[in-house]
Amino acid sequence: MSWIEKARLSAAAQAVRELRDRTTVGLGSGTTVLKALDLAAERIKKEHLNINWVPTSYQMEIAARRLGLKITTLSEDIELDLAIDGADQVQWRSLDLVKGGGAALLREKIVDSTTKKLVIIIDEKKLAKTLGGEQPIPVEITPFAYHATLAKINKISEKAALREAPSGKVGPVVTDNGNLIIDAYYRNLRRPDIINEKLRKIPGVVETGLFLEMCDVAYVGRKDGKVDILRRS
Ligand code: A5P
Repeated sequence: MSWIEKARLSAAAQAVRELRDRTTVGLGSGTTVLKALDLAAERIKKEHLNINWVPTSYQMEIAARRLGLKITTLSEDIELDLAIDGADQVQWRSLDLVKGGGAALLREKIVDSTTKKLVIIIDEKKLAKTLGGEQPIPVEITPFAYHATLAKINKISEKAALREAPSGKVGPVVTDNGNLIIDAYYRNLRRPDIINEKLRKIPGVVETGLFLEMCDVAYVGRKDGKVDILRRS
């Protein structure tokens, strides 16, 4: 196991201590949350916790069902007690996030904005002084007129490209909502709020991967095996 995998696992082990009995919890997507869910399932079994989960993707719904966990929706529970999620990049002071590396950003943003507390699990390599740089900002767009939408995003970014499926499928990545993903690059995102608003104003843009002023706590797994707990200031 690489130090990154170990770091994420250590952070996940601490983050699942946030779980409480008789609560409803939003379940983010990605490889880190998948590990956290395994650890959560062990705790639930051992301590007989009653937790209802709201998955943010088919990936996590399938995983939760496999583990025999209780699943609910935002129609049943319109406010969540907690949400546990991963991220692609975290600004170390504001805890602003870039998400959507796994193309699950729309459901994640809905779920993560519906919780009393958002907990993020990452390794220290994902911490950044400013968002962007080599890390693209994923943008979910409608397939209708995607060429025109892509051109508009290109105009307000340094570079933007339609995300192609790396393997297992030919052509573009299609999200769980039937949409497409554009990866937009910004060298130095000092005002992610302005870019977020500009992107969201483009007709055809459904949502962006900029999660601003949302994260309450980040569990950061370090290379030396320790875990830092960062709170939004
Ligand atoms: C899913 O679309 C993303 O927002 C993930 O939460 C993010 O990409 C982190 O994924 P990993 O934990 O797999 O790095």
